[in-house]
Amino acid sequence: MSARPPRLLFLLSGSIACYKACHALSRLTQAGIEVRTVATPAALRFVGAATLEGLTGTPVFSDVWTEGRAMDHINLARWADLAIVCPATANTLNRLAAGLADDPVGALFLAWEIQQKPWWVAPAMNHTMLAHPATQASLDRLRTIGVRVLAAGSGALACGEQGEGRLVEPESLVLQVLAELGPKIA
Ligand SMILES: Cc1cc2nc3c(=O)[nH]c(=O)nc-3n(C[C@H](O)[C@H](O)[C@H](O)COP(=O)(O)O)c2cc1C
Repeated sequence: MSARPPRLLFLLSGSIACYKACHALSRLTQAGIEVRTVATPAALRFVGAATLEGLTGTPVFSDVWTEGRAMDHINLARWADLAIVCPATANTLNRLAAGLADDPVGALFLAWEIQQKPWWVAPAMNHTMLAHPATQASLDRLRTIGVRVLAAGSGALACGEQGEGRLVEPESLVLQVLAELGPKIA
């Protein structure tokens, strides 16, 4: 058993569900998990860098050109035991499936040893965006690569429509992460 706390890389993309992800982040850090956050520029329009730093105790990584963090697109991939993109937008899912690496999320995905360590995505979007053949093809591609796709919930969506596309509920996410990392909690 490892003597150190389990390490979670928590990557946010630009969905209205970022506030729910913050709730999960709070619970996960309280559970003793060491968390580092990564955010796309769009995600930072939904939640502030100060919120992410306040919840985790470390600054969010959002730009590969940040001074002093020149190799974090590799280092964070080596550091973590589990990575989860939460919320995962249609845009980010399609970009990951295509192997694009011009932002921290994409670069970390390619630097991640996908056969050795789990990478999860938690989609959150409008039901039509989720059902679109482009999005579904990307999810299939990601599953083939070895990514675990957490099931989106059904019900009322932020856009006012009903359907599948709600971010997994924070409580459920926390339980799934604890089940995955629990054996590492000393
Ligand atoms: C209010 C608002 C809510 C949004 N919610 C979502 C969402 O839940 N899921 C999604 O895929 N895109 C959503 N978008 C669109 C994304 O923010 C947009 O596609 C963005 O380019 C995603 O960038 P990223 O994947 O790099 O974070 C939303 C946009 C706005 C303005």
